[in-house]
This record gives sequence, C-alpha cells and structure tokens, in this order.
Amino acid sequence: MMFDALTPNPPDPILALMERYRADSHPHKLDLGIGVYTDEHGVTPVFPSVLEGEKRVLAKQTTKTYVGIAGDPTFCDLHQALTFGEDHPARRDGRLRTIQTPGGSGGLRVAAELLNRAAHPPTVWLSTPTWANHVPLLSSVGVQLRKYRYYDETSHGVDFEGMLEDLEEAKAGDLLLLHGCCHNPTGADLTPAQWEQLTDLALARDLVPFVDLAYQGFGRDVDGDVVGVRAMAARVPEMLVVASCSKTFSLYRERTGSLTVVSRDSATADVVASNMSAVARSMYSMPPHHGAGIVAEVLVDEQLQSQWRGELSAVCERVAGLRSTLADALNKHIPGRDFGFLTQQTGMFSLLGVPRPVIDRLIEQHHIYIVGSGRMNMAGLPAQRVDELAAAVAESIEATA
Ligand code: LMR
Repeated sequence: MMFDALTPNPPDPILALMERYRADSHPHKLDLGIGVYTDEHGVTPVFPSVLEGEKRVLAKQTTKTYVGIAGDPTFCDLHQALTFGEDHPARRDGRLRTIQTPGGSGGLRVAAELLNRAAHPPTVWLSTPTWANHVPLLSSVGVQLRKYRYYDETSHGVDFEGMLEDLEEAKAGDLLLLHGCCHNPTGADLTPAQWEQLTDLALARDLVPFVDLAYQGFGRDVDGDVVGVRAMAARVPEMLVVASCSKTFSLYRERTGSLTVVSRDSATADVVASNMSAVARSMYSMPPHHGAGIVAEVLVDEQLQSQWRGELSAVCERVAGLRSTLADALNKHIPGRDFGFLTQQTGMFSLLGVPRPVIDRLIEQHHIYIVGSGRMNMAGLPAQRVDELAAAVAESIEATA
C-alpha cells in the first residue's frame, strides 16, 4: 500500500513538549517550553487594545468574501510601516512589497518558495543554534542550509568573530538568516554596531539578508528592537523580512504575519510581488483575514496603537523583571555559577546551560517543562514561582551530577 512507504516522523521538539505538558495532570506543572507569553495567573491574555480592534472588525464586517492573495492591503501597509518605520527610505522609494502571511511560519515558507524561484537552489545560512522550525520550513522546499557559529556558551553572548569566520565561506547570492531581535533560542542579540558590520559584509560579498522578526517589542521596545534591521534595510539593495504578529499582538492562533521584500528598484519590486502572490496562490490561495483585520484596526487608530504599545511594553518590562529575579534566585540556589547573563539577554528565551539529564529530571520529577536544548521561556514564569524553579534546577543538577 502507498502509505507503507512512510516511516514515523520524529515529533517537533517544541510542539511535542506542548502536548506532553497538556497531558500532564500534575496540579503544579509549569510550562516554560513553547514561546507563548503568560501572565501571573498562567493565562495568555488578549491585549485589551487587540480585543477592541476585534470588536471593530466584527462591527464593520458585512461579508466574509475573499480579500485577496496578498491579504488585507491596509494591514500590509501598516505592518510594513511598523516593521520598517513610516519614513524608511526604502519605503519612500517604493522598493518594498509586503504580503500578508499565515503567521511568521507562513511568511518563512513563502519566502523559501520565492527564493527557490529566484535561485537554484538557494543557500540560507542559519545561526547555531536557531529556532527549530527554521530547518523544516526552509529545507522542505529544497533550500540548502549552512550554519554559522552564533552563541558562545562561555560568555553567553554572540560569538561574532566565529560568525564572521564561518560566513567567509558564503557565496554571492547566499541568504543570511538573522533574528531581528530576541534571538530564539539564546536571547543573545547583535548590537547595532554588529548589524552595521554585517551590512558591510552583505554589501561587500553580495549576500542577501533574510530577517525573521517574531518578537518586535519584547526586547527594549517596538522601535528600539529593530534599529539594526531598519539600518540594514536602508543600505542593502535586496533583503527579506518576515514579521510575526503571534507574540507582538498575542494573536497566536489567528496566524497573522507578513513577508516584506526589499528590491533594488520599484519595477523589480512589482515583479517580486507578482511572484509572492503566485507562491501564496499555489500553497494556500489566500491567507486568513481575521487577525490581520484586527492588527489593521489597532495600527490605523493612533490612540489604539499607542494603547497597544503601552500594553506590549508592560509585558516586556515584566519579562525583564523576571529575568533579573530568576538570575538572583539561581545564583542563590546554585553557588559557584553566575546566571547574571540572563539579565543581559532579551526576549522570551535563554538557554539554561545544563545537560540533558537535568532537563529530563526537571520535566519528570518537577513537572517543569523546558525544551530539550535547555531553552527556557522566561515569559511563562509566574513571579511567585521563581524561587521554586531555581530550587528545582539546583536539585536536578545535584541529583544528576
Ligand atoms: C517557539 O519558538 O516556541 C514559538 O515560536 C512557537 C513555535 O511554533 O515553535
């Protein structure tokens, strides 16, 4: 029979952990696995600004007819402005084209298919480590993957020299995948000066930057997090930016995001746009509208946008506070190790830097769920459980030593 040829597919490391957590009936389980923000009560809230946007969508909606292959044009324009800045030179020069995509993952996949149309086969350079889903999303299209060093486990920062050294092997036309901010899974970000250096490199070697921006506003703030991305986009002739609304608007299940391509001139941008549409049509025909409609309502109204910025900034501050209290608690429970690096990193994630048996014990004995790589989602941690987590990590290190 046809399906006898199939062999079981290994489970996705993040989503399988989410399922395992859900199946655990322990009353005090703690989910620090999947990258989802939860508040003090363990709830992933809907931002009040987003709820208001949704009410406006529903109040205005008179039909459910199709919107179009590229999605909601108002969303595309406003989300492009949010990502690049209203007055970005590439935007002014008509060199940007944006397509609404089913989440950031959908955007990455449209990008991969687009690259496949432009180069045979395209080569994308990925950081080590990177978000687990980058590999299947890109490689299933036939994109060739190469890796560059990124995270220095000793300094807990970016191994920039190693990164540059590895990129010496990159060839003209290769894509350089960068995390726009809040690097997943390390939390270690490039500095603005390093973004400038990478821009110089891209220009000198004809590399095409390919940015995955899933956490804009979770590091410093909405504009501060994309200083490097915007500066790069102002200098390079070609670039791709995939931006997700899952975390930033807390719209996870609504699958909302965008792909923007920077082209060397407006005429080329039109050709790119027609190809993006063709790719979307051949995969899912048209993206879902609901989330994009909500984001458009939030962004189009100055007051509502400013409310959303405030709500996101409160989330960001809370996560930064958790980083600091967790570092203190870990330092207290595990003398001889310095977890101060947690406060230097940004966004939801950091690598705990402990071996696999420690992670297994945290899950099995303590019902604390962390991705197998040691990636911990700081944004899933209630403040009153910080000490309990630190004590469990200490116990697990000792028990498995
Ligand atoms: C994560 O990294 O946990 C999130 O981006 C969710 C996902 O789909 O993996």
